[in-house]
Amino acid sequence: MYGFQPSESFGPDVAGRYDDSPRGDEGAAADLLAQLAGDGAALEFAIGTGRMALPLAHRGVRVEGIELSRSMVDVLRSKPGGAALNVTVGDMTSVHTGKRYEVVYLVFNTIFNLLTQDDQVRCFENAAGHLTDTGVFLVEAAVPSAWLPTHSYASPERVDLDAVTLDVCTYDPATQILDENHVHISKDEGIRFGPISCRLTWPSELDLMARLAGLRLADRWGGWHRQPYTGKGMHVSTYRRA
Ligand SMILES: C[S@@+](CC[C@H](N)C(=O)[O-])C[C@H]1O[C@@H](n2cnc3c(N)ncnc32)[C@H](O)[C@@H]1O
Repeated sequence: MYGFQPSESFGPDVAGRYDDSPRGDEGAAADLLAQLAGDGAALEFAIGTGRMALPLAHRGVRVEGIELSRSMVDVLRSKPGGAALNVTVGDMTSVHTGKRYEVVYLVFNTIFNLLTQDDQVRCFENAAGHLTDTGVFLVEAAVPSAWLPTHSYASPERVDLDAVTLDVCTYDPATQILDENHVHISKDEGIRFGPISCRLTWPSELDLMARLAGLRLADRWGGWHRQPYTGKGMHVSTYRRA
């Protein structure tokens, strides 16, 4: 997507609307993350507005975060309990908090927001560098086939009487980049674009990235309730020191 700037995908407009439609997996995810953390602390890569971190903190886990977008962090800080979370503004491929955690986690397909294989590997290496000896790195992402019925498509995301939202995508198999634009067309608001690019990675490629970072796949589930992984939809994968 010519001219696309990843940092602009989560600017003030998007941050302000980010929590309007919760994804609905927050409780189940926080339960699993709290089990994995035990008495230890957790670090969320790309903590965003705290959608996942705040319910986890409510379960008694000390949660910290790394986040690129100051706008997302501003929204987090405005929420009850948000100001108490320690957040480092920076890039999850390189920033180090100077501490080690029992759980480092990266959810909601956000590994895909890193647009090169090198950056995705650096993210695994940075996660490994934040883990205690017994720590676990959890990644939750879509299985690419779930997103790619064809290479290019436009599908309705929401249809109302006087507004529609379309998901318009092209996919390049050579670079594994999915260019996507959420186009909101409304009688009252006109047209609003929400562009984002993703580099789609299969779980098997993530496993190799983990090995480059000195980690090994520990568990792979099909969801937050530890249901069996079927190769469809999404996966929740955990990695530990090899
Ligand atoms: C889909 S949101 C997920 C936010 C949160 N983890 C959640 O589950 O709601 C993606 C987030 O990743 C952040 N992000 C993208 N690239 C990043 C990077 N290289 N380092 C840190 N954060 C990044 C964006 O700013 C955005 O807040």
